[in-house]
Parts: sequence; structure tokens; C-alpha cells
Amino acid sequence: MTALIEALTEPRELSEEASASHAREAWDRLADIDTGYPANHFAFQQMLNVLAEEGAERVLEVGIGHGAAIPVLAGAGLQVAGLEINDLLVEKSRARMIELGLDDQSVSWGDIQDSTTYPAIRRDAPFDALIAMGVLPHVRYEKAALENMRALVRPGGLVFVECRNSLFSLITFNRYTHEFLMDDLLHDAPAEVRQAVDAYIRPRLEMDRPPVSSHASTFHNPLTVPEVFRAAGFEDIVIRPFHYHAGMPILEAQLGQVFRDGSVALENEPSGWRGLFLCSAYVVQARRPVAPSHAGQVNHG
Ligand SMILES: C[S@@+](CC[C@H](N)C(=O)[O-])C[C@H]1O[C@@H](n2cnc3c(N)ncnc32)[C@H](O)[C@@H]1O
Repeated sequence: MTALIEALTEPRELSEEASASHAREAWDRLADIDTGYPANHFAFQQMLNVLAEEGAERVLEVGIGHGAAIPVLAGAGLQVAGLEINDLLVEKSRARMIELGLDDQSVSWGDIQDSTTYPAIRRDAPFDALIAMGVLPHVRYEKAALENMRALVRPGGLVFVECRNSLFSLITFNRYTHEFLMDDLLHDAPAEVRQAVDAYIRPRLEMDRPPVSSHASTFHNPLTVPEVFRAAGFEDIVIRPFHYHAGMPILEAQLGQVFRDGSVALENEPSGWRGLFLCSAYVVQARRPVAPSHAGQVNHG
């Protein structure tokens, strides 16, 4: 029985030609102006280089969604597995795996906050690396999610976790700017000063943007987020900003292509600090230490 299961779940190799054409298709889609700014393309450029340097072979994408990254990762010669909390998206990613001639059972339903929900993935662990794009801003139990991610990679393995950049709020000139100034920067200023600041900035900001959403997402400050990852048992933390904005995002609709071209041109800017303000997102690259850690898996429903 075990042999049969192994035979059925044995991942098939992507031929070189198929992998090149899928990588090209993925790039064409990412670069298509109608599908929006190709932000993840720039994040994957950075991550794939690190994965190659590290000699990674097996990668787990947590929050695999529609499976948009499967051809990018498989095209780079990586063996891909996926974890996803949305049933419909599990099916979509499995269909994508089948289209690419890969093992669709490598994609499982599960909640990264609760390690009991993904037994098949735990059986396949440890992975050389784990990627989680668009997941951390939406989890309720952040430390549990990060500790469970750590447990799924081998000692010495890497995680790449996307965060929304709270410092970008200083560029947006909208409701987020108000929240960042009042709640993060000036929370302990005298009440009279806070009232004056509030009165000064409100008419200068687009306070009705973005519209209030029922799907609140968490922002992280790239200057303090390394501590969050260290507390979850990681080391060697690197911040990799992506999705630059050549100006206030509200100007994008008005300026169109020139704004987009200016933003793309910034993606490789070398300052080492401008991305901390001009990027709406960044990937935290963090390593599971080789020496054993005392923190264990955490389950939260
Ligand atoms: C913003 S989408 C990004 C999808 C994909 N990673 C991409 O970049 O195109 C985030 C994905 O994470 C999934 N997700 C959110 N919370 C999760 C959790 N606790 N465990 C597993 N997946 C989760 C969502 O269902 C969604 O598919």
C-alpha cells in the first residue's frame, strides 16, 4: 500500500522545454499591464537567486492561492508543494499542478496557524525553503504561524514571508498616514499636541482612502520586524523590499504608464534604504537555526 501511494504521488519531472515555456508564460502574465503591477515578479527574482545560492530543491508555498507561482518555481527546477486554507483555491492550484504535469496531491488544505490541520505536509517536511506571500498580514495568531513555518523547514533552511510595509504609510498621504502618525509615531505625545497634529493633517490627507475593508490586514515595520522573527526562533534575517512606488499611489490612476515605468525602474535601485519607504511590501528572509531550538509547534484554531 505504501509503495502504491509512493508510486501515485511520485512527482513527475518537468521537461526542460516545458519548464522554459511555463516560465515564459508566467513572465508574460506577470508583465501584462492589464493584470496590474508585476510586484511578485520582483520578489521572486530575489528569492529565486537566494534559493539557487542555497542549493534548495524542495519548496513549500504556504497560501499558494491560484498557484500563480507554481510555474515560476517549477520552471526554476524546484519541487513545489503547497498549503492553502481556501478549498476552492486548493482545487485551482491542484488543477495548475496537473496542467504542468506535476503531482497535484502535493497541494493540501490546511491552516498554517494550526499544525494539526496539515498532516500530509508535515509528513513531507522538512522542506529546504518555505514561501508565504500575502499570508502573514491576514493571520490572527502570528507567532504560531511563524513557529509552524519554522518547523516545516530543515535546520539551516529558509523562509520568505511577505509583510505589508507600515513605513510606506508615510508616502501614501491617506488614512494609513494618519494611523501611522497618530498610533505608531506620536502615540505618547501630549494630548494637546496630538489634537493639533490631528487637526493639521486631516485636511491634507485623503482620509477616505483606501475605503475601510472588512478584511483588515496587519502592517509590519521593517525596522522592528526582525525581533518578531527572532522571537519565533529564526536567525540571519534579511529584509527585501519590493513593489516600489514612484510617488503617492493615488497618482498612479492619473499618471498611468509613466508612474508604472518609474516604479519598475526603481525596483533595482541600490540605496539600501529608499525601498523601506517607497515599497508597499517586503519579504522577510529568515533562517531556521542549525542548532536545535526549544520553541515547538503551536496550535491555534
Ligand atoms: C493574498 S493571497 C496570495 C496568494 C499567492 N501566495 C500569491 O501570491 O499569488 C493569500 C493566500 O493565503 C491564503 N491563506 C490565508 N491565511 C492562510 C492560513 N492561515 N493558512 C494557509 N493559507 C492561508 C489565502 O487563502 C490566499 O490564497
